[in-house]
Amino acid sequence: MITLRHGGPRPTWGFVIVSVPRGNFRAVAHDVKSDRMTDSEGGPDLTEDGPGDSTPERATEGGRPLVVAENVNKHFGELHVLKDINLTVNFGEVVVVIGPSGGGKSTLCRSINRLEPIDSGKILLDGKELPKEGKELAKLRADVGMVFQSFNLFAHKTILDNVTLGPIKVRKQGKQESEKHAMELLDRVGIANQAQKYPAQLSGGQQQRAAIARSLAMRPKVMLFDEPTSALDPEMVNEVLDVMTGLAREGMTMIVVTHEMGFARRAAQKVVFMADGQIVEENTPNEFFTNARTDRAKDFLSKILTH
Ligand SMILES: Nc1ncnc2c1ncn2[C@@H]1O[C@H](COP(=O)(O)OP(=O)(O)OP(=O)(O)O)[C@@H](O)[C@H]1O
Ligand SMILES: [Mg+2]
Repeated sequence: MITLRHGGPRPTWGFVIVSVPRGNFRAVAHDVKSDRMTDSEGGPDLTEDGPGDSTPERATEGGRPLVVAENVNKHFGELHVLKDINLTVNFGEVVVVIGPSGGGKSTLCRSINRLEPIDSGKILLDGKELPKEGKELAKLRADVGMVFQSFNLFAHKTILDNVTLGPIKVRKQGKQESEKHAMELLDRVGIANQAQKYPAQLSGGQQQRAAIARSLAMRPKVMLFDEPTSALDPEMVNEVLDVMTGLAREGMTMIVVTHEMGFARRAAQKVVFMADGQIVEENTPNEFFTNARTDRAKDFLSKILTH
């Protein structure tokens, strides 16, 4: 499993920077190896919704699919990690992916923007299949923002510079405009007063919020979060979940790997339970958490509920 830890080895694609002002989404992908960034734009309208303790009502563009996985298979050597995965995430939908360790959750996320190639099947983003390589891939991949367990902020840049880097470098946006927007985003995630600091001077929760703000600077169509709170000290988990809940309520399309059931209940329309490389169950959070259908899911839930 590939887990990006703060200060650890960097992946080929370091991160994707995203943004969510109402209306358009735009993303920047940073290719660490080539130090190139890519950008794109477009996205759904955003709408408020209520507290939504089970299946929040929200505008999902009439169920228009944004991310579609069709019969996706992926092996790591002999290991069949994704087995005939079929998943549709509509515009504006929030899907929580949950399941035991090694079940393929991260691999699925990484396959969605081709950080991992798939062996067979299709992954479509807004109706287009992800190309295997080249400029087209960079363009499509840029529509997908990704927030990992670790924050992957540039250590030698201030928080403000981390957030403005994508817009300035990729979108060729002016410094002043980028900084204004960055400050709005930092304010929105509650760390405007940390803008001039360096990442190491921030707490883990603040760094993760900075990473989200950096993502928010670029407006992707969909945000993938892979266990964004699991590296955090417990007292910092909620401050990050609150930011994510806000994004969800504003209509961001999100795929979130997390075991935070409160978040799932609050923000998600759908829970996908993955185990052994398969999607075992797909249901509303309320149904899933109170009335899981399979023994596999019941067993998993009994374990996490006792923690
Ligand atoms: N780069 C890799 N090379 C070989 N095997 C891998 C690689 N990445 C993941 N795997 C294997 O694929 C399987 C699925 O891993 P994955 O990281 O997707 O699971 P996960 O559901 O995200 O688990 P966790 O909850 O622990 O994060 C595991 O058996 C893992 O060991
Ligand atoms: Mg994982």
